[in-house]
Amino acid sequence: MQIADRRADVTKKLFIKTYGCQMNVYDSDRMAHALAHHGYEPAESPDDADLVILNTCHIREKAAEKVFSELGRLRQLRDSRKRRTGRDMLLGVAGCVAQAEGELLVERAPFVDIVVGPQAYHRLPELLARRARETGAVIDTDFPAESKFDELPQDLAAGGVSAFLTIQEGCDKFCTFCVVPYTRGAEQSRPVADILREAGALVATGARELTLLGQNVNAFHGESPDGTIWNLARLIRQLAEIPGLERIRYTTSHPRDMDADLIRVHGEVPQLMPFLHLPVQSGSDRVLEAMNRKYTADDYRRVVDALRAARPDLALSSDFIVGFPGETEEDFEATLALVRDVGFAQAFSFKYSARPGTPAAGMRKQVAEPVKAERLRVLQELLEAQAASFNAACVGRTLPVLLERPGRHPGQLVGRTPYLQAVHVAAGEGLGIGDLVPVTITECHPHSLAGVTVTLQAMAQKEAHA
Ligand code: SAH
Ligand code: SF4
Ligand code: F3S
Repeated sequence: MQIADRRADVTKKLFIKTYGCQMNVYDSDRMAHALAHHGYEPAESPDDADLVILNTCHIREKAAEKVFSELGRLRQLRDSRKRRTGRDMLLGVAGCVAQAEGELLVERAPFVDIVVGPQAYHRLPELLARRARETGAVIDTDFPAESKFDELPQDLAAGGVSAFLTIQEGCDKFCTFCVVPYTRGAEQSRPVADILREAGALVATGARELTLLGQNVNAFHGESPDGTIWNLARLIRQLAEIPGLERIRYTTSHPRDMDADLIRVHGEVPQLMPFLHLPVQSGSDRVLEAMNRKYTADDYRRVVDALRAARPDLALSSDFIVGFPGETEEDFEATLALVRDVGFAQAFSFKYSARPGTPAAGMRKQVAEPVKAERLRVLQELLEAQAASFNAACVGRTLPVLLERPGRHPGQLVGRTPYLQAVHVAAGEGLGIGDLVPVTITECHPHSLAGVTVTLQAMAQKEAHA
């Protein structure tokens, strides 16, 4: 059957709100795309939607709680619109809260229509049909035998200049603080042929940069067409052969899976960007052990040294948790020492949040809230200072910038450096979205840089001399 034949006659409107990590961003796009085949067009806002899906995150308590307050707001919106206009709205919850809470979610929010886990959302059209027939919420939090990637429509829509591509999903590491192994299930790599096909399609529709996604992306071990298993290094080498693909990134990596081959690729493949998100969580060996991270702070330092030896211009970003159960002042000092030793261009840091069902939630010596808050403040001050000095050091340098979107002001374009910093540039003649251009950085602001393209700069200099 032709895909067009399956499109419903009546157009309905869909609004998806996405929380959490990049994988949820990718999933939201795929859900929207799958539902487009069933007559759903994007809505500008929930007010104009027939179906609203919250694609949720369960990683910390705050993230999960946000979902319930948002659901409360949406219910009010739905009820008042229905009273006013008679138009109904379906409410769906997808993602990691859906997976973790399942039935409980419906007990707490009985007005929800659909609950669907991250591995089952290819069944959304079916679930919508069931919801139309049945009363009460429809729940699907299976880890189905079939892969959603095989079931989802294959005709990808244009993904923009910079696109995400999920290559691996789930996690077998069971860090003691983390819900991901429970919400996303066991670690699974997609077959190489599927990834190469999707990468080719994304580049054909305008992508110049691909970010390979996985909860444990560097544990990738996908089956290749000849039956051998490829690691991430092998996959990156192959992707680098795609004409028109200028930049490759991958996230999120686990320090334990940074093997020698992958480190070598950083020195060999110019398209692989010299910027790596490598979460360390803590600089204390005692805490790392209690977290079940299976590396020491010095192991992490050695990995960083090897990466920098392979690619001297490499910069790092990381994740940190403060106030893990049992973390002492001395442990926290060890984290600060690691940050000073390594030097991060960017970082995310969080107060430990006890998650139901994880081993750390039941550990003794939970750290008091004010202590966590103070440690977070101190750590963030140090990390922000490092990020600011990294950005400031870019002023005067000429960096390749991939132009991604129009800026707020007329004639302005916004792009990104290899280090993911946003750069505003004057568009200039013949310059457009998707171009990769050398830009001399002239200004550094708290959340972005400004620069001049080298061509424009040369023209200005010529005029000045004339
Ligand atoms: N797979 C990645 C992390 C995914 S979760 C890795 O292994 O590094 C993203 C980040 O959220 C983690 O790196 C961690 O810093 C943070 N995080 C996860 N669980 C948390 C919890 N219970 N409390 C606070 N932060 C948490
Ligand atoms: Fe969570 Fe650890 Fe797996 Fe990362 S490696 S997703 S922190 S369990
Ligand atoms: Fe959150 Fe699930 Fe991603 S818990 S961080 S959305 S894998």
